[in-house]
Amino acid sequence: MSHRRGTRGDAIVKRRVLNMDITFLLNGETVELSDVSPTMTLLDWLREDQHLTGTKEGCNEGDCGACTVMVTDGDGAKALNSCILFLPQLQGKAVRTVEGVSGPDDELHPVQQALIEHHGSQCGFCTPGFVMSMTTAHLNGETDFDTQLAGNLCRCTGYAPIIRAAEAAVSQPVPVWVKDAARVGEPASAPQNHPPYAPDNSDALAQLYASNPDATLVAGATDVGLWVTKGLRDLGTVIFLGNCADLKTISVDADTVRFGAMVDMNAMGATIDDLHPSYGEMIRRFASVQVRGAATVGGNIANGSPIGDNPPALIALDATLHLRKGESRRSIPIEDFFVAYGKQDRMAGEFVEAVSFARQPDRLKVYKLSKRFDQDISAVCGCFNITVNDGIVSAARIAFGGMAATPKRATAVETALIGQPWNSDTISAAQAGFDTDYAPMTDMRASARYRLETARAMLVRYYAEDQGELVSVLEVSA
Ligand SMILES: Cc1cc2nc3c(=O)[nH]c(=O)nc-3n(C[C@H](O)[C@H](O)[C@H](O)COP(=O)(O)OP(=O)(O)OC[C@H]3O[C@@H](n4cnc5c(N)ncnc54)[C@H](O)[C@@H]3O)c2cc1C
Ligand code: FES
Ligand code: FES
Repeated sequence: MSHRRGTRGDAIVKRRVLNMDITFLLNGETVELSDVSPTMTLLDWLREDQHLTGTKEGCNEGDCGACTVMVTDGDGAKALNSCILFLPQLQGKAVRTVEGVSGPDDELHPVQQALIEHHGSQCGFCTPGFVMSMTTAHLNGETDFDTQLAGNLCRCTGYAPIIRAAEAAVSQPVPVWVKDAARVGEPASAPQNHPPYAPDNSDALAQLYASNPDATLVAGATDVGLWVTKGLRDLGTVIFLGNCADLKTISVDADTVRFGAMVDMNAMGATIDDLHPSYGEMIRRFASVQVRGAATVGGNIANGSPIGDNPPALIALDATLHLRKGESRRSIPIEDFFVAYGKQDRMAGEFVEAVSFARQPDRLKVYKLSKRFDQDISAVCGCFNITVNDGIVSAARIAFGGMAATPKRATAVETALIGQPWNSDTISAAQAGFDTDYAPMTDMRASARYRLETARAMLVRYYAEDQGELVSVLEVSA
């Protein structure tokens, strides 16, 4: 893997495609693109236009990590999947591909050297993606490699040699050429002007969207990217939200926790972990580091998916959704947002601005059930927030994903619990409520019967966990 300076030998590449102008740094060199198609992915552009074929295409839908690149902006460096990253999302940022990881005289990066020494590569198809995830983790001082590499799949090597390589590289310093802003490409050296259809604050977004209500909003593109790469959809007019810095705010005060719509899932997880650790653990299993680095809180709510992981947890926390259209704002209980399958309480030209919930004692447990432990969409996500005073259930908010056409509360179960003694008889009696609350479907993730049985089991699990029993398969040993 040699270090590549510039693109096609030129410091500045100009190219006409379609609708947008953007500027970013690629392996330390400025790239200016005129009239860029809003839905050209970075992966396609790297491989087909730039012939930088080190970055691999595996799944083209965010699942395998073969296409991982490092993207740096004012918030630091992230590993992202280039297959579901549209070029305009890179405006003002710096991209580093596997071709730009080794030193100016072709010195290998410590993670590359370690992969060789620990036999971490066989066919090599996955290796560039691993190198980029490991390089980013190395730069950021991240050492939980089960988490950091959960989004990178390898078919042949087995993960132990790769993890050993990652661990071996920890003791090596970050190479000068990676620290060097000019070569890493700190965005400061890229122009900060924002392209059209990428407003840089929520006021400008509100104005633009109100006058273009048919536009497609793109936040992290971890859903929308697939509409293009798999659905081959034409998105029409696109508005990118990524430059709206004021939508990336997280605030935690004595009374309220509030996440701006553009807070990414890694940032949300870091905050929620301290407040509601079980929710934080679920976010650790939400997709992968690469997807979480792009995916936003607002996108996960606005997409209205019945299997999105945040909505049931937020419903259980009694969260409030903040919506804005032009100059007018409204706030609704988040559960009211989900009207029916594919239908949300959102007007044309209205967008999600934030979600908030009250500070509260931590009684929340979030149980994500998926076929694969890491990096998988939930079959069922059960969220329980039950308050017990003097041995009596005084409040209960229970919500599920994967059990209905929308994220939905288990009101019959809640009613059966409230006012009752907190004991196993109450739990057994309340289990029947799930049959009233839900008529789940059978699909490739789970049968209807399995979903209902697992929901009942999750209530038992909540009670057992509350009694101090070990309930996680990660905690129990033979
Ligand atoms: C490999 C992979 C694994 C995944 N795993 C999980 C998982 O474990 N759990 C899970 O819940 N999801 C998962 N997802 C789905 C996806 O990552 C999430 O739904 C994500 O939160 C979407 O956010 P985004 O910013 O990428 O949204 P985008 O794709 O940008 O947008 C999604 C939708 O929301 C709209 N939108 C975005 N922001 C706003 C806003 N502020 N106001 C109004 N509308 C808006 C868009 O127009 C679009 O309709 C996975 C996706 C992939 C590719
Ligand atoms: S090609 Fe598989 S994650 Fe991008
Ligand atoms: S070495 Fe072949 S897929 Fe990983």
